[in-house]
Formats: sequence, structure tokens, C-alpha cells
Amino acid sequence: MTDFWWVVVPYVCLTVFVVGHVWRYRYDKFGWTTRSSQLYEDRWLRLGSPLFHFGMIGVFFGHVLGLGIPESWTEELGISDEAYHVVAVGGGVLAGAAAVAGLVILVLRRRLVGPVFSATTRMDKVMYAVLGVVICLGIWNTIAGSILNLGGEYDYREGVSVWFRGIFRGDLHPELMAEAPFGFQAHGLAAMLLFALWPFTRLVHVFSAPLGYLTRPYIVYRSRDGRPTAQPGSRRPRRGWDQAS
Ligand code: HEM
Repeated sequence: MTDFWWVVVPYVCLTVFVVGHVWRYRYDKFGWTTRSSQLYEDRWLRLGSPLFHFGMIGVFFGHVLGLGIPESWTEELGISDEAYHVVAVGGGVLAGAAAVAGLVILVLRRRLVGPVFSATTRMDKVMYAVLGVVICLGIWNTIAGSILNLGGEYDYREGVSVWFRGIFRGDLHPELMAEAPFGFQAHGLAAMLLFALWPFTRLVHVFSAPLGYLTRPYIVYRSRDGRPTAQPGSRRPRRGWDQAS
């Protein structure tokens, strides 16, 4: 069973993730969208959405650091285990708390604002549920596992992280996950389920985030008569046949 959960399931889910995105792009290119509900409600979205998204960006980089970078590298850089722990746990709690607060606001808004609820599909509900479970289990691991050390001390960088990197390098270590505390196992499996669902949900928008907005030149708006003003009502109405000056 160890191989099934920690080799077969991850490869099946990650394959569905990759092939599913290619399929979705080819067959539903115009449905590749956030399916934004901003038109229906703006006030709660303006609070919940940045909280959730900035929190998740922090969580993402936390995972790149914690799962992607071997413990030996940070040791060679002279970063002690304690220093790493303080930064990882501090950053993790902050990012995780922002993501949870944002998610709670977004889910309540989705349920309580009528038009937003009407625009919610069954797949959205499944996605929100799985996303919520993954995030809650992650926070549970940070608090119960890494801060309170409930159930004994566990260094996920010597277990979960080695297993995770091994999946991509073909250097399989299912036994490391079989020995990990239950919270880490549940978080890993729930994350795999989320990866398998990902291409069929609105989460595809992650791969079309408009990052170009950050670097593109400003768009300068000018009024038609050449004055750089856009004051409402400040321009004389011009007839269609008047030449622009
Ligand atoms: C198989 C993939 C994943 C693995 C192996 C993994 C592993 C971990 C580990 C080891 C921690 C604990 C960090 C600590 O103790 O400080 C953690 C925390 C967390 N994880 Fe994951 N994770 C995965 C995917 C995800 C995904 C897809 C999400 C969200 C969509 C997520 C959300 C979180 C959150 C919110 C936390 C707590 C806050 C934080 O430390 O950033 N994880 N994860």
C-alpha cells in the first residue's frame, strides 16, 4: 500500500494535472477564465481577494523553500536549523493566516451574496472544499507539527521534502511518507487531489495571471481635443463633422 499512496497516486494526479491543462487549453480555450464575479459584488471581493491571493503567494514561496531546497544547501550557506525554523514558521503562519482569512471572506461572500451564489457551479463548490481542506491541514501541520511539536518532533525537510523532490527526479522514497505524521500524509494526499482537480476548475487562471501588467508601459488617457484631462463634462460637446484639433 505504501507504493500505491506515495508513488502511484502522486504520479496519476500529476499526470492528470499536466494532461488536463493541455486538454482544457485545446478544447475550452475560451472557458479558461477566473469566471470573475466582480460585477455582482465588489466590496467584500476587494478585501477577501487580495488577502487570499497575497497569502497564497507567500504560501507558494514557502513551499518552494521548504520542499524544493534541500536542508544541506541551507546548512552550507551557514543558515542554522533554528534560524530556518523561525523564518519558515513565522512566514508560514503569516501567509497561511492571510490565506485563510481571505478564503473565509470569499466563501461567505459566495454563499451570502445571491447573484454570486447563483453563478457558483458544482465544480466551484468541490474546488473550494478541497482547497479549504488542503489549507487547513497545512496550517495544522505548521502549528501542531512545527510549533507545538504535538506527537513528537518531526523534521519535514528530512522526510516529506525528500519524498516530494524524489517524485520529480525519479528517486522514489515512499517509505519517508509512510513514516510521516498523519497530518503531513493527509495534507500531501489532499494536495494531490487538488492538483488532479485543478485543470477542470477556475484555478487554471493561475497560469494566465496578467503578470505583464507589472511591466507594461502606462496607458495614457487623453481627451479628444488633446488636453490631458478627463474631467467629466469638461469638454465642449463636439459635432461629428468637427475636425479634432
Ligand atoms: C504535495 C504537495 C504539498 C506538500 C508536500 C506540502 C507540504 C507542506 C508542509 C511540509 C507544510 C508544513 C510547513 C511547516 O511546518 O512550517 C505545509 C504547510 C502548508 N501548506 Fe502545503 N504542501 C503541499 C501542497 C500544498 C498546496 C497545494 C496548498 C494550497 C493550495 C498548501 C497549503 C499549505 C498551507 C496554507 C500551509 C501552512 C502555512 C505555511 O506553512 O505556508 N500546500 N505544506
